[in-house]
Amino acid sequence: MDAEHGAILVTGGAGYIGSHAAKALVQEGRRVVVYDNLSAGHRGAVRWCDLVVADLHDTATLRATIRDYRVGAVMHFAALASVGDSVRDPSPYYRENLEGTLGLLRVMVGEGVRPIIFSSTAAVFGEPTETPITEAHDTRPINPYGETKLAIERALGHFERAYGLQSVALRYFNAAGADPQGEIGEDHRPEAHLIPLAFEAARGGAPLRVFGEDYPTPDGTCLRDYIHVSDLAGAHVLALRHLEAGGASRRYNLGNGHPFSVKDVIAAVERVTGLRVPWMPAARREGDPSVLFASSARIQRDLGWRPSISSPDEIVQTAWRWHAAHPHGFGDRTEG
Ligand SMILES: NC(=O)c1ccc[n+]([C@@H]2O[C@H](COP(=O)([O-])OP(=O)(O)OC[C@H]3O[C@@H](n4cnc5c(N)ncnc54)[C@H](O)[C@@H]3O)[C@@H](O)[C@H]2O)c1
Repeated sequence: MDAEHGAILVTGGAGYIGSHAAKALVQEGRRVVVYDNLSAGHRGAVRWCDLVVADLHDTATLRATIRDYRVGAVMHFAALASVGDSVRDPSPYYRENLEGTLGLLRVMVGEGVRPIIFSSTAAVFGEPTETPITEAHDTRPINPYGETKLAIERALGHFERAYGLQSVALRYFNAAGADPQGEIGEDHRPEAHLIPLAFEAARGGAPLRVFGEDYPTPDGTCLRDYIHVSDLAGAHVLALRHLEAGGASRRYNLGNGHPFSVKDVIAAVERVTGLRVPWMPAARREGDPSVLFASSARIQRDLGWRPSISSPDEIVQTAWRWHAAHPHGFGDRTEG
């Protein structure tokens, strides 16, 4: 147990990435408390620590949790995270991702909790003008989701100058895969991510829709950067150590640096599962760039982070292990 530093408050820790980070923290010997309203998360994903079921907007409960658990740092995953939904209905995105997070930052300042690791996103960059995308790339989001995340990145800088908050914002590219021990995995309802959708198609669900086959890429489908969720979790642990050691606030891009096409991923799913993935061509989606991948050179240099699970087959293998054992996900939520 780490007695020197307080507990880590993991907001959104019943969700996909937050639950993997909570596991990684507990394995590091850290005390962890998950704070999640279960709007998209699962009780069954919180297996190694306490779960406080409450909303970010409930600042009285947030404050009490920070006091009760003697929280020393925050990892903030709780958010709405669908680009398409944010365009169709931006209001909840501003409420949850912007107002909810500002409320959290105010409570942190009031309680004297300074370090925060913030889940940012590749969507802060908008249409890339060059790849791989480094931290020096312009930030020009093209949807409300990316706007809300960028606004918080900026607020973190202002809160540091005025109130001493310390932050690491991690801009993830496409999180993928599942816990290599098979204990937790990805269960979004509805699902929007390629690998679980390919599993559903392979198991007799709706055929996978491939959005655009006429991009200027080797096989015509979009190239994306899939970063394994446990590698993401590991980056959070390193970022926390960095801040706790007195390191300066940072913004880091996080990807595995090797872009894979949609068809590469489908082929990996077929190899790993031994099943055919029925798919159908669909129109390009607005705002989908042909190629999106990260340079993670800065976090590798500064914090010594390295992706450890980076081939499509390895990533799919971990996801399939959990999916095959849990065809109904965590089983605590009905479709919708
Ligand atoms: N999944 C990706 O590929 C990806 C890529 C880039 C960035 N991100 C960011 O990473 C974070 C986690 O993503 P995820 O895929 O794990 O999402 P997720 O939906 O699985 O997890 C989010 C969790 O936050 C909780 N939550 C939402 N609003 C809340 C509120 N107001 N109060 C308390 N809890 C609340 C949900 O119940 C859920 O458990 C998000 O901030 C997302 O924007 C994800």
